Formats: sequence, structure tokens, C-alpha cells
Amino acid sequence: MKRDHFGSSFGILVAMAGSAVGLGNLWRFPYLVGTNGGAAFIILYLVLVFVLCLPLLYCEFVVGRRTQSNLVTAFSRYSPGSNWSIVGILGLLGAFFILSFYPVVGGWSIDYIVRAIGFEFKDMAAAPPAAFENMFQQTMTFSSRSLLFHFLYIVLAGLIVLAGIRDGIERYTKWMMPLLFVMVVIIAVRSLFLPGAQAGLDFLFKPNFSQITGQTFLNALGQAFFSLSIGCGSILTYASYVKRSENIIKLSSMTALTDTMFAIIAGTAIMPAVFAYGLSPGEGPGLLFAVLPRIFAEMPMGSWIAILFFFILFIAAITSSISLLEVLVSVVIEKLHWSRKKAVVLMTVLCWIVGIFSVWSTEIFDFFNNFSSNLILPLGGLLLVIYVGWIADFRIFEDEITNEGRLHFNRYYLRWVRFVIRYLAPLIIFVILLASLQ
Ligand code: TRP
Repeated sequence: MKRDHFGSSFGILVAMAGSAVGLGNLWRFPYLVGTNGGAAFIILYLVLVFVLCLPLLYCEFVVGRRTQSNLVTAFSRYSPGSNWSIVGILGLLGAFFILSFYPVVGGWSIDYIVRAIGFEFKDMAAAPPAAFENMFQQTMTFSSRSLLFHFLYIVLAGLIVLAGIRDGIERYTKWMMPLLFVMVVIIAVRSLFLPGAQAGLDFLFKPNFSQITGQTFLNALGQAFFSLSIGCGSILTYASYVKRSENIIKLSSMTALTDTMFAIIAGTAIMPAVFAYGLSPGEGPGLLFAVLPRIFAEMPMGSWIAILFFFILFIAAITSSISLLEVLVSVVIEKLHWSRKKAVVLMTVLCWIVGIFSVWSTEIFDFFNNFSSNLILPLGGLLLVIYVGWIADFRIFEDEITNEGRLHFNRYYLRWVRFVIRYLAPLIIFVILLASLQ
């Protein structure tokens, strides 16, 4: 069977950036910045992204494009004589875990779009803060409403994946990503013009390093993996649909850059507003759903901004969910020789059923949320660098990244990448993982 491919470099970039930019940027990043001390956390995060995680992104990209195969097959095909399919299976587990809570938040985004369209926040302008807390609690409660939105979200993601790579994923992300960018910039500008916005900017950009602890490191690392989509095969799977003539370093760097830019812009859209209205940034996961609506209720034009904001959240989330779903679907298609249709139906139904547990209980939701990013993803990343750097011949990596010697990069940069993949990354990830187990 002939494998589908992306139609253009731009298509690859928007699909990859679509995978990376998601709830990680708009929901997780702001609440982690808020609970981990602001600017100092951001600086730590930036260093981890560009020093440590970018070379990991190259690794996933290389293994995927080299083997042109699904996550499980890739680790037996990449280097002859070394079968590490187990890494692929761990990745499958990770993708499945993330898909069991991610669509729940996706469902909330639809719920909040509906509320915003009904001017529900405006109507609450005079209500006490507890009313907004209640609204969020109600959204999270196991009910026919939350089940419906969760189901709807999964079906939409399934429909895009059903249409395939070029006619589904590429076709939709191509207009969703630019739209997303324009919309998030509009909100950031709106937020910057609020009286009192400066305090939010100080919080984002004036570091206070005394607040960095061991836990901050783990959170920053987990977030870097989560936000860049590394550690469970999204990048690898998309890369397996990339043609041999593309420039891996360029595409990966642009993906990381776009993702980081989105996180910073999202922070700039949210924090100045939080400070301008005298609210606390340290709210945690409820920041977007219990705190922001209070702002929308009071802000001039707040209802429109609210519709826009939750629509952005939905688009960002769905373009990420499809990259996780494609990981599972491609394995079923190629390992079990099923049709795409049958594979998508099976996987969406499975994710839906497992997800119901996260709709049902916040403990299960929290478990999947924290366990996947702070344990499975770093573990997947650790095994990936050990595989590429030590188990397989490292020359395969160098060969693939230069398109068999046809592309040229700075010699020192390549040496640095080699050093990170073989020594620095395994060491740092190992130490952080070990520290987190205590
Ligand atoms: N990166 C996405 C976000 O920020 C989520 C995501 C998609 C992901 N695919 C992934 C996270 C693979 C880890 C691994 O929302």
C-alpha cells in the first residue's frame, strides 16, 4: 500500500506547529507560569526548550522520516539489528493517556464557546467570584452536558483524521493555524491596552530567581516535552509522511520557534488581564475557566473577546489532538492491515470510553494529566536519545539530518547537537526523573 504524504513544506510546518501549539500553550503554560513564579520559570523553560528539547525534536523527526513507518515499526527499522519496538509501545501508551484527558478540556472549550455566545459571562457581571468558580465546577461535573461536549470533540477530531494526511490533517491545519495566530494576537493587544496591564508584564518578564526549586525544574521539563509534542510519537508519525528532500533542522527549529512564540503571546494575552483586574495568577488549572470569565464579564467588549478566546482554545486543541490520534491510527493501519476508516473508528471509540473516566472523576483526570507529562514523556524522550545516540549507529542520524550529505550546517552546531543527544540530554532527563520519584 502506498503511504500518504504531505503536499508542501508549508503543509508540514503548519501540521507540526498545529500539533505543538495546543492546550499546552494556552491552558497549561499560563497556569504553570502563574504557580511557578512567573519570569524565572519562563527563562528556565526557554533554556530547556532550545538547549535540550530541540535536539530531541530532531531525533523524533529523523527516526520518523528515515523509516517512513508508524511508531512501533520505526524502532525496529531505523537501525538494522536493534529492535526497540518497546519504545514505540511506551509511546502508544503515552498518546493514549494524553487522549484520555485532553479531549475533556477540548469539551470544556466547546462548552465555554456556547456560554459565551449566550452572553452568559456578561449576565454574571455583578455576581461574586464564587459564582464563576461554581460555573467551572458545574462544567467539570459528570453530566449529560459534559458527556455530550466530550463526545462531540472526539468525533470532530476523528473526522479530520479519517480524511487522511493531505486531504485531512494538512487541509485543515493550513487555514486553522494562520487564523489562530491572528486571533491570539488580537487578544494580546486588547489585553495590553487595559489600564494596569504593566503589572502582568512585570510578572512575565522580570525574573526573580529565588523562586526556582527542584519542582520548578520538573514542571518546566515536563511542560517543554508536552508543549513541543515530544516523547510519544506525534512528531515521529508526522515526519513519516515527509519526503526525503525536506530540511529537518529547519522544519524542527521553526516548529519549536512557533510553539514558543505562541506560549509567550498566550501569556501576554492572559497575565496583563489577570493583573489589571486584581486577580491572582496562581489559581492553577482553573485559571482559564474560572478566572478569565470574570475578566470577560467586566471588560468592554468582553463577550466578543470571550467567544474569540474559547474558539482559539478549541482550534489549538483540535489540531493537537489529531496528531495524537494519528499516532494510534497509523499503528493499527500498518500493523493490523486495517483500513483507515476501521482504524479511526476503533481508536476514537476507545479514546472516548477511556476519556469518560476523566469526565467522571477529577482524580483520574489529574492522574492522566500529571502522569503523562511528568513521567511517560520524559521517559520516552530518555529512551529515544539512548536509542538514537547509543544503540543505533549515530552516523544514521547525521546522514539523515544532512539529507545524505547534501545539506550543510555549521560544524560546531552539529557537534553540539551530538553532545546533547549522547550525553547532556540522557543525564539531565535521568536526574530530573530520579529527583521526581522521591
Ligand atoms: N503539544 C500539544 C499541546 O501543547 C499536545 C500534544 C500533541 C502532545 N501531541 C503530543 C504532547 C505528543 C506530548 C506528546 O497542547
